Amino acid sequence: MKQFDFIILGSGIAGLSFALKVAPHGRVAIVTKKDRAESNTNYAQGGIASVTSKEDSFELHVRDTLAAGAGLCRENVVRTIVEEGPARIQELMELGMKFSERDAPAEDGGKELDLGKEGGHSKRRILHAKDVTGREIERALLDAAARQPNIQIFENHIAIDLITGQKLGHAGANRCLGAYVFDKKGGRVWTFTAPVTLLATGGCGKVYLYTTNPDIATGDGVAMAYRAGAAIANMEFVQFHPTCLYHPKAKSFLISEAVRGEGGVLKTLDGKEFMDGYHPMKSLAPRDIVARAIDSEMKKSGAEHVWLDITHRPAQFIIERFPNIYQTCLRFGIDITKEPIPVVPAAHYQCGGVVTNVDGETGIAGLYTVGEAACTGLHGANRLASNSLLEALVCAHRAAKKVVARSLPPVDAKIPLWQSGEAHNPDEMVVVSHNWDEIRRLMWDYVGIVRTNKRLARAQKRIANLQEEIHEYYWNFIVTSDLLELRNIATVAELIVRCASMRPESRGLHYNLDYPQAKPDWAQRDTTLRKSETGGTPPPSQ
Ligand code: FAD
Ligand code: SIN
Repeated sequence: MKQFDFIILGSGIAGLSFALKVAPHGRVAIVTKKDRAESNTNYAQGGIASVTSKEDSFELHVRDTLAAGAGLCRENVVRTIVEEGPARIQELMELGMKFSERDAPAEDGGKELDLGKEGGHSKRRILHAKDVTGREIERALLDAAARQPNIQIFENHIAIDLITGQKLGHAGANRCLGAYVFDKKGGRVWTFTAPVTLLATGGCGKVYLYTTNPDIATGDGVAMAYRAGAAIANMEFVQFHPTCLYHPKAKSFLISEAVRGEGGVLKTLDGKEFMDGYHPMKSLAPRDIVARAIDSEMKKSGAEHVWLDITHRPAQFIIERFPNIYQTCLRFGIDITKEPIPVVPAAHYQCGGVVTNVDGETGIAGLYTVGEAACTGLHGANRLASNSLLEALVCAHRAAKKVVARSLPPVDAKIPLWQSGEAHNPDEMVVVSHNWDEIRRLMWDYVGIVRTNKRLARAQKRIANLQEEIHEYYWNFIVTSDLLELRNIATVAELIVRCASMRPESRGLHYNLDYPQAKPDWAQRDTTLRKSETGGTPPPSQ
């Protein structure tokens, strides 16, 4: 049993930002399933969208976010996050984050922040650290966390499930009391308790066969929150990034949208630009449009990829602006200053998640969710590029303020220790890896960029069969992180399919050939799911 004042599941931008804010008020446990920097945050390339230049305005950033979100964003949430962004960016810089700079105009002198451009943005507003923004964010936040004696980080510890009053049979409103956590190296399950638990477990790219996400992205937080009775919404809106490197040896390597922001152009294999046929912003159109256009071009021609060409820009500029992309592609034998880059769309970002308000409240007392695991209403049906790091910073700050002001009573309930299955049969581990592959492939084939009712129904049936098998495994066998993650990706796959099946229209990232148009009566309507047998409290009002 380990008792804290705050438990944080995840050490990406959301978890670490929240930890730094609450650490002066109590003892903080950060539980993270691999090493502390390993997170989606660590691989972020393009940067953080925020209004910092005289040519830009909050109104324009709000407008671009709403346009990308295709009628499903919550405007009040969008305004709050956009308007509070600059103060949070300033704090991040004070903590030690170093954004790229450039020479200011001669009349001002000195340096100013270098601003990048990405799809759907009407202005240059992306603050970045060359093309390794996320790595620099993790460095700055982890350095700051190391200076805080109240923060203890548990690496290689994977949260299994949330502990709630409802699961323990307590009467009254549901309350989160902590989490069961598996120590992967020590091989045992710990009971962590605290009055406040933050889910900052990120997204679920690994539910799909091809993704830009690292291996940690298995949707654990959404699956745990669902099992605990929280409301989950809008999981059908999986964002496919248009440009993942296509190479047999490259696993999940993103080619940042910033490359198109600096002039990179999409072309078919015979060298023709094709985006002018799809959107006036061409290669810099919002992501849902670009990903679908590439998918359609590939299907039309039978090609396995398209080209992204930035060779018309000076080599020196490309190497300085995109050092990581340049070096990585070079390792695969592609000199991006001289030849086009082979790219394909891949699953990238989960716009839905645990329903929260802008303060991270979930409807279960003591349980907060921030970052990619949350669905605040900022992204709507399609996230505007580089708005997710911004959302995590703003909402972590607001959630921390809320929990500190609220001061929930300590956990004094008697909590049973974890009961694990005893069987251990390494031969059967092949079933776990087979089921992993099967889910990821069927999600790619049936629930990808373009969907149909028939494919969704087929996916739902197969996932239900797999879940039955996983359920049996889960209760009989000794816990392993592969098994825990398998159970979670199966749950998240089910949630994606069920949300997709609930929406009888096409909107933003959800495109169903059986309903190719958006329906006005579905604007502003979320697809919300809650595990029926747990009942639960209504989701917070946004
Ligand atoms: P993460 O950063 O993913 O952190 C999740 C943490 O939770 C990790 O530490 C993980 O180990 C831990 N965890 C998960 N499950 C468990 C569990 N069961 N137990 C314990 N720990 C657990 N967004 C932008 O705004 N701008 C960009 O330029 C940008 N570029 C991107 C590039 C790439 C390649 C990718 C993959 C994403 C990019 N995104 C970008 C999206 C953005 O990086 C993420 O949405 C954001 O970093 C999510 O932050 P987070 O803190 O919510 O989650
Ligand atoms: C990118 O650099 O293209 C990723 C930006 C994002 O996902 O917001």
